[in-house]
Amino acid sequence: MQPVRIGMLGFGTVGQGVATILERSAERITRRAGRPLVIQRVLVRDLARVRSVSLDGNKLTTDWRSVVNDPEVDLVVELMGGVEPTVGYVQAALEAGKPVVTANKALLAERGWEIFGSARSARQVVAFEASVAGGIPIVQAVSIGLAANQIQSISAILNGTCNYILSAMTLRGITYQTALAQAQQLGYAEADPTLDVDGTDTAHKLAVLAQLAFDATVVTSDIPRQGIDRLDIADIRCAGELGYTIKLLARAKLAPDGSIELRVAPRLVKQGTPLADVKDAYNAIRVVGDYVGDTLFYGRGAGAMPTASAVVSDIIDVVCGRANPTFETQNLWKSDRGQTRLAHPDQASSRYYLRFNIADQPGVIGQIAMILGRCGISIASIIQHDTGRDDSPDAPVSLILMTHCAQESAMSAALVEIDQLEVVRAPSVCLGVDE
Ligand SMILES: NC(=O)c1ccc[n+]([C@@H]2O[C@H](COP(=O)([O-])OP(=O)(O)OC[C@H]3O[C@@H](n4cnc5c(N)ncnc54)[C@H](OP(=O)(O)O)[C@@H]3O)[C@@H](O)[C@H]2O)c1
Repeated sequence: MQPVRIGMLGFGTVGQGVATILERSAERITRRAGRPLVIQRVLVRDLARVRSVSLDGNKLTTDWRSVVNDPEVDLVVELMGGVEPTVGYVQAALEAGKPVVTANKALLAERGWEIFGSARSARQVVAFEASVAGGIPIVQAVSIGLAANQIQSISAILNGTCNYILSAMTLRGITYQTALAQAQQLGYAEADPTLDVDGTDTAHKLAVLAQLAFDATVVTSDIPRQGIDRLDIADIRCAGELGYTIKLLARAKLAPDGSIELRVAPRLVKQGTPLADVKDAYNAIRVVGDYVGDTLFYGRGAGAMPTASAVVSDIIDVVCGRANPTFETQNLWKSDRGQTRLAHPDQASSRYYLRFNIADQPGVIGQIAMILGRCGISIASIIQHDTGRDDSPDAPVSLILMTHCAQESAMSAALVEIDQLEVVRAPSVCLGVDE
């Protein structure tokens, strides 16, 4: 049996995980793929770097062309990350007649239609199970397992770093900065965690899911997003008092007029519901289909071995021929982003959690309630907390309101007015509420 020779672009966390699985489980994988898989050539940036997995022979190179153009490479696995220069390397591999397996959500979210256009022209496939939620087979589930359905909505926890930080804040009552430092010590967060905590990574994954579920071609900048980096422990505590947990949620919804609502933001999720119970660095995706109803997928969304598990399953699918018909019939990223109708964020409606930092004076609640009422927003419940500095008459107090369902545009207009009140001491906090 001729082995399938793999060219890898990148040999970091996930790349070394893939090499480990291919070596450790060679017999099983050969059986499932129908042929043995061998690593032929590997692109890295730094040949001198010490790696926990070593490869036989002189397989490492810093010359990307020697991987994608090598006639002895049958399939390219892209695990270097980033958009540039990666997009060019992937397109060159496809043009050289090699199928590509990638874990790179940023690449798909930003340049998906170019990559898929190149693949179709070259009559090749791109497989990308590992790009969303690491080890959870959500790409297969949405595109194959739920193929009979029109997906109605997706609500998902897609970033393990953020979920770890939020779980630590909730369970141990620690601040965002302390939780982030712990996540970095444990290797859950990068030294520069910006793309995780500001919601960009979650938006990349949501862009991929929106393509699978709704044929919606969007780039990250089309998705309104808010991260967890400005979340105050006070809101975690107040949400807990009200029976909710705060989660960074990626949400996609098919609106009745056929437009697609997309959003990444921290939201209050009712305690005791499946998404509220997702702890630490785990991911979960709730998908609602018109026939199947509610489904939930749960597991490890990152890490060397869970992510490598998804990459190897894609390699097996490509080698045994399952990926080709799926790729052709799915016809993903066939249009550019101009053709996707996105709902305007102002049209969204939700219940809201509001926290105001106000002067402790008579009549303040009335002023706020009047503005909300004028904007057509109805209050469901009110809690007032003093901040603990009760020795000072000027100390501000926290006022927490839960609203009934309101339109986002009305809420934004009300908050602009409320934040201008003389008695409001800090910008208001507003988070959507999931029931
Ligand atoms: N880590 C996870 O848990 C996870 C989960 C899901 C998806 N992913 C995705 O998987 C991909 C790989 O992630 P990773 O965590 O394995 O990354 P990583 O540990 O940073 O590894 C990246 C690898 O690519 C090489 N590389 C990067 N830029 C290069 C360039 N310009 N030229 C040549 N080589 C270059 C690096 O070489 P050197 O080793 O020489 O520096 C390294 O071997 C990314 O797209 C990521 O988003 C990762």
